[in-house]
Amino acid sequence: MTKTPNTPNSVATTASDVASNTAPGGEAVTVIGLGLMGRALAGAFLDAGHPTTVWNRSAGKADELVARGATFAPSVAEALRASSLVVVCLSDADAVRDALGPHRADLAGRTLVNLTSGTSDEARALAELTGDYVDGAIMAIPEVIGTPDAFLLFSGAPDAFAQHREALGRLGKATFFGEDPGLASLYDVALLGVMWGTLNAFLHGAALLGAAKVDASAFAPFANQWVGSVTGFISAYADQIDRGAYPAEDATLETHLATMKHLVRESAAVGIDTDWPARIQALTERAIGAGHAGASYAALVEVFRGRA
Ligand SMILES: NC(=O)c1ccc[n+]([C@@H]2O[C@H](COP(=O)([O-])OP(=O)(O)OC[C@H]3O[C@@H](n4cnc5c(N)ncnc54)[C@H](OP(=O)(O)O)[C@@H]3O)[C@@H](O)[C@H]2O)c1
Repeated sequence: MTKTPNTPNSVATTASDVASNTAPGGEAVTVIGLGLMGRALAGAFLDAGHPTTVWNRSAGKADELVARGATFAPSVAEALRASSLVVVCLSDADAVRDALGPHRADLAGRTLVNLTSGTSDEARALAELTGDYVDGAIMAIPEVIGTPDAFLLFSGAPDAFAQHREALGRLGKATFFGEDPGLASLYDVALLGVMWGTLNAFLHGAALLGAAKVDASAFAPFANQWVGSVTGFISAYADQIDRGAYPAEDATLETHLATMKHLVRESAAVGIDTDWPARIQALTERAIGAGHAGASYAALVEVFRGRA
C-alpha cells in the first residue's frame, strides 16, 4: 500500500525525540485556560523549568500555579504578549473563539497550540485565528501529563510545530501528523471511540457477570488479558482494510453472528440491558446481508462506511 503523508508512518517527531531533552529551562510558554487539564499542562511546563505565564477567566484557579512560580496575566492580551508559544485548553471551540477571537493582532507572530477537544472542522476554522496554528489532542488524563504515559497528537503548521516541539514534548509523547490542522482532532475522536467501545463492552460484561455475583474486579484481569489479544486482531484487520480484502483467516462473520446471539440471549436471560449486544448483532447482520457472511470480522468496516 502506498502511504500518504498523513499516515502514522509520516510522523515527523515523536516523544522519544523530545523526551531526551530533560534539561531544566527552556522557552517561555503561556497557558490560556486553567481547568483540570490546563492546570496540569501549566504544571508540566513549570516542572520542566519553562517560564510560564497563565490566564484563566476565573482568576482563583491560578493561585497554586503562581505559588509554584507561574506568572498570572491579568488579561488575555498580556498573556499572549508574554510568550511566543501560546497553549490554549478551554472547554470547547466556542470558548476558544470567545477568548482569542478579539486578539488576532496579539496572536500575530506567535504559535497558537490549541489543545481544546473538538471536531476536525472546528480545528480547521480556528486555524484562521493565526498563521502559526497547531491543533492538538491530549490522549491522557491530567495526572499523567508530563509523564511517559501521556501521549499527544498534533497537526497544523509544520514549522511552528518544529520550532516548539521541545517544549511540547514536556507534556508527553508528541506525534505530528502533517499540515492539515483537522487531523489531530480526527485521530482524537476515532481513538475516543475505541475507548468508549472497549469500556462499554467491559461494563456490559461486568453487568452480565455481576448477575452471577461475580465482582467486576474478578472479571477485570480476564478482560484486560482479552483486550491484549484484541490488539493483535486490530493490526491484522487494519492490513485487510487497507487491502480492501477480508479473508476469514480466523473466523467468519457467520461464526461471529452465532456467538453474538449467545451474548444477547444471556443478557436477556439475566435481565440486563440487551441494547449493546443487539446493536453489534444488527451491524453484523447488515454486513452478512451485503454478502460478507464468509468474510472476516474486518468486513464490518463496509457497514461503517455506509456501503452495507
Ligand atoms: N480532563 C481531561 O481528562 C481531558 C483529557 C483530554 C482532553 N481534555 C480536553 O481539555 C479541554 C479542557 O478540559 P478540562 O478538563 O480542563 O475542563 P474544565 O476543567 O471544565 O475547564 C474548562 C476551562 O475552560 C474555561 N472556559 C470555558 N468557557 C470559557 C469561555 N467562554 N471563555 C474563557 N474560558 C472559558 C474555564 O474557565 P473557568 O475556570 O473560568 O470556568 C476553564 O478554564 C476540553 O476540551 C477537554 O475535552 C480534557
